[in-house]
Amino acid sequence: MNKKIAIYPGTFDPITNGHIDMIKRALDLFDEIVIGVSTGLGKKTLFDLTDRKQMIEKVFENNASVKVVSFDGLLVDTANKYKASIVLRGLRTVSDFEYEYNMANINKILDKSVQTVFLTPNEKFSCISSTMIKAMAVHDYSKISGFVPKNVYEALCTKIGNK
Ligand code: COA
Repeated sequence: MNKKIAIYPGTFDPITNGHIDMIKRALDLFDEIVIGVSTGLGKKTLFDLTDRKQMIEKVFENNASVKVVSFDGLLVDTANKYKASIVLRGLRTVSDFEYEYNMANINKILDKSVQTVFLTPNEKFSCISSTMIKAMAVHDYSKISGFVPKNVYEALCTKIGNK
């Protein structure tokens, strides 16, 4: 039987509980989730690619259905490389829609065999982003503990504390 593999791409600088909530619910729908950690082209990241990937690996270390890969270049090429026929994206708010709609269409033009599937995150995570987490961490670590896993919380404390 062919496995249903979805790729969930992002910069993950760092991964948040919002992303994790999406991945866990997607595991009910797909046999395997490939988390594609982008180099973050055009984004000035706080964590380098290796750190971002390792933090995610730690979160899913006991889940054989989750694979973490880093990528540079086109998402559709990475999807094909890992035999993912689905791109998983989150729609948090209406403002996400236009960007996501364009991205899904571009990816379909680039490779019509790759379908995009959208999930809405749990509403308690609908307003967070990695940038907001970092901004909160700069001022008060205690405010971020419900939004990131423990290892990310510790990495943020170390990284931002050392700045
Ligand atoms: N919970 C919490 N935060 C979430 C979230 C969720 N469920 N979903 C998204 N976010 C946050 C992200 O952390 C990110 O925050 P930031 O901007 O503060 O860093 C923000 O929402 C935007 O997320 P996203 O749209 O996924 O951007 P990204 O930078 O994380 O990833 C790629 C963008 C990598 C998916 C995209 O640029 C890509 O596919 N690049 C490859 C090149 C390509 O093929 N492009 C398309 C054709 S030209």
